[in-house]
Amino acid sequence: MRLNEHPILKFKRGREVTIYFNGEPITAHEGEPIAAALHAAGIRVLNYSNNRERPRGLFCAIGKCSSCLMVVNGIPNVRTCITLVEDGMRIEPQRGKAKLPKEAKPPEFRDAKGMKADIVVIGGGPAGLMAAINAADAGARVVLIDENPMLGGQLVKQTHKFFGKREQFAGVRGVEIAKILENEVRKRENVQVFLETSAVGIFQEGDEKLVLGVRKNRELIEFRGRALIVATGAMEKMIPFENNDLPGIYGAGAIQTLMNTYGVKPGDRVLIVGAGNVGLILAYQLIQAGVEVKAIVEAMPKVGGYFVHAAKVRRLGVPILTRHTILRAEGKERVERAVVAQLDDNWRPIPGTEEVFDVDVIALAVGLRPSIELLHQAGCQIRYVRELGGHVAVRDSWMETTVRGIFVAGDTAGIEEATTAMLEGKVAGISAALRLGIAEESWVREIERAQRDLEEFRSGPFGRHVAEGIRKLLAEVGGNV
Ligand SMILES: Cc1cc2nc3c(=O)[nH]c(=O)nc-3n(C[C@H](O)[C@H](O)[C@H](O)COP(=O)(O)OP(=O)(O)OC[C@H]3O[C@@H](n4cnc5c(N)ncnc54)[C@H](O)[C@@H]3O)c2cc1C
Ligand code: FES
Repeated sequence: MRLNEHPILKFKRGREVTIYFNGEPITAHEGEPIAAALHAAGIRVLNYSNNRERPRGLFCAIGKCSSCLMVVNGIPNVRTCITLVEDGMRIEPQRGKAKLPKEAKPPEFRDAKGMKADIVVIGGGPAGLMAAINAADAGARVVLIDENPMLGGQLVKQTHKFFGKREQFAGVRGVEIAKILENEVRKRENVQVFLETSAVGIFQEGDEKLVLGVRKNRELIEFRGRALIVATGAMEKMIPFENNDLPGIYGAGAIQTLMNTYGVKPGDRVLIVGAGNVGLILAYQLIQAGVEVKAIVEAMPKVGGYFVHAAKVRRLGVPILTRHTILRAEGKERVERAVVAQLDDNWRPIPGTEEVFDVDVIALAVGLRPSIELLHQAGCQIRYVRELGGHVAVRDSWMETTVRGIFVAGDTAGIEEATTAMLEGKVAGISAALRLGIAEESWVREIERAQRDLEEFRSGPFGRHVAEGIRKLLAEVGGNV
């Protein structure tokens, strides 16, 4: 179902087009991804698992898992959460092993188009946007690529106002910050932007880094630069419980994408798992969109997010059940119920405390892990650092990894917030320009300023453990926080 009224957002939909699902016509709008159009038409099952034919639906909605793969115009394995609708598109759920149609001719490597820059930035979230802006201001020619159809990363779905300092957009909504940063990037003639373009590999070619990109699932592009900034963000975590693959179980960010970016209601009744800031903010946003939130369950003995968010949600009548977990999802082809139970001091469910919630959506807000696949493939040294959300690339205080000329920023470097992602992006952008000898020495002062702001930001209760994680990483390269 489509949302037409919202207290904060206005949904400007593109021209109406017709797509065909299993041969049946569906009205969609230009500019929206296939999966969003299908959801608006009430279609949740997007494919069936290979071996056991279990129904699968959308999970991350940002191109980072494989739960939305479908057959589009005969081509299998299309990520329908980031592939935009086109008039006349024919879409089918994917079943079994994917096979290319006989007549399909994959693009030849030697046909790939070439793009050259000083610095290639992968990822157009707050970290990548700030990296591109600062690298460009320091004098570099920049190419910025993102696999989603719009710039802004996670910001494009955040309707709440940010905390922090004024110069770090305190009091401004995430969606607006995304627009401000995008305008800044578009203003700069030395930044070229490629959307709907996935970076699929990083290689060293002489003095240059080669990033292999795939645009709109069709076109190969070879991006070359002397330095590279990886700002690919994070991916939502999954937790084990019975039937956790049923359509209707989404990562919290996926619900925000559907609801706040494309104006599509994810369902009518939701159970949220996780009472950190993401779970709390999501509850509030669901209520804004007219969706009932039955409860938030949290395994820890107390709420993990800010008190102010929890108080707001409680005031709206949503119970937050601490020391509870989800036992299973129930339903045939989609979520129909969720069963939760209380936990004892050893984290085991207490028999007899089971409670059934009549919901059609289960939202998992159980944390993120850094997306480091490209860094790993490029040969950067990787370490597991619990405080940073999982495996991350070892890097120095200027955000350079152990592969010279490859920098990181934002959630890829460790799970934190958009504010710190922007500051790290600034450090990485300037450092890369300095490393190439493009930026003047005076830019070092800007790095130091951003580092001071980062330090200040991390001195609060939520940032302290991140600072500890960074300390561990820097110890490996002999640097300071
Ligand atoms: C519900 C929610 C609420 C939040 N609230 C706040 C808040 O109030 N304040 C705050 O400071 N932070 C908040 N955050 C956190 C903040 O949004 C993230 O920390 C921030 O967006 C991280 O920025 P990033 O640029 O590192 O990554 P992202 O914003 O995730 O951007 C990464 C980009 O990289 C692109 N990408 C990934 N892989 C590839 C590839 N292979 N090829 C090309 N492109 C690729 C993606 O498409 C994406 O656009 C919130 C997050 C969530 C989910
Ligand atoms: S890749 Fe599309 S839902 Fe995750």
